[in-house]
Amino acid sequence: MTKKYKAVIFDLDGVIVSTDECHYEAWKMLADEEGIYFDREINQRLRGVSRMESLEIVLERATKEYTEAEKLEMATRKNGYYVEKIKSLDKTAILAGALEFVSLAKNAGLKVAIGSSSKNTMAILKQTGCETLFDAIADGNDIKNSKPAPDVFLVAAEKLQIAPTDCMVVEDAEAGVDAALAAGMDVLAVGFASAYAKATYRAKSLDEVLVKK
Ligand code: BG6
Ligand code: MG
Repeated sequence: MTKKYKAVIFDLDGVIVSTDECHYEAWKMLADEEGIYFDREINQRLRGVSRMESLEIVLERATKEYTEAEKLEMATRKNGYYVEKIKSLDKTAILAGALEFVSLAKNAGLKVAIGSSSKNTMAILKQTGCETLFDAIADGNDIKNSKPAPDVFLVAAEKLQIAPTDCMVVEDAEAGVDAALAAGMDVLAVGFASAYAKATYRAKSLDEVLVKK
């Protein structure tokens, strides 16, 4: 990375903490109750996407139409299951290299922030003992338009008081990579998005980026 950045904005789910399984199981419970086919491949398409937009993807396999009120109830029901599941998260859910990468950025004098679509961001950070790690947190509660819209990253940059062009984003979702680019930020794609050609930088994981002594 040749450019000198002033801040790194991290996505939460799939970058700092592994919540994949909790999301999958909660959506699966809802889908089974409604008799809708749902599998892990469909679950991958929900990465980075807001709760209501995720529900629309789940409903692509539904055999009946749902009213807006029913959709709202279903999203709330799924979130209830999810909130119960994330109560069992602890530090072991933190992804390999994440804490080291955050420390490295801080020690180099960079600000660090979270930019996540999730409205459960604070709960997850608390569960995993990361609630005081970041200089700013922008999440699903701060925005109307979720990724691939740039909003959450622009809010994070604004909270940090740093120009978007001086920020680098770390993302595991293609929608998140698009959101970062739309915000005028460079982006390191990891995990599921690591093969996404649009990203400025790509790595299998944050652990892979760290230079080991
Ligand atoms: C993103 C996840 O971080 O948050 C998505 O990658 C999820 O899968 C979205 O749908 C919204 O999360 P929540 O916790 O507000 O339902
Ligand atoms: Mg993610």
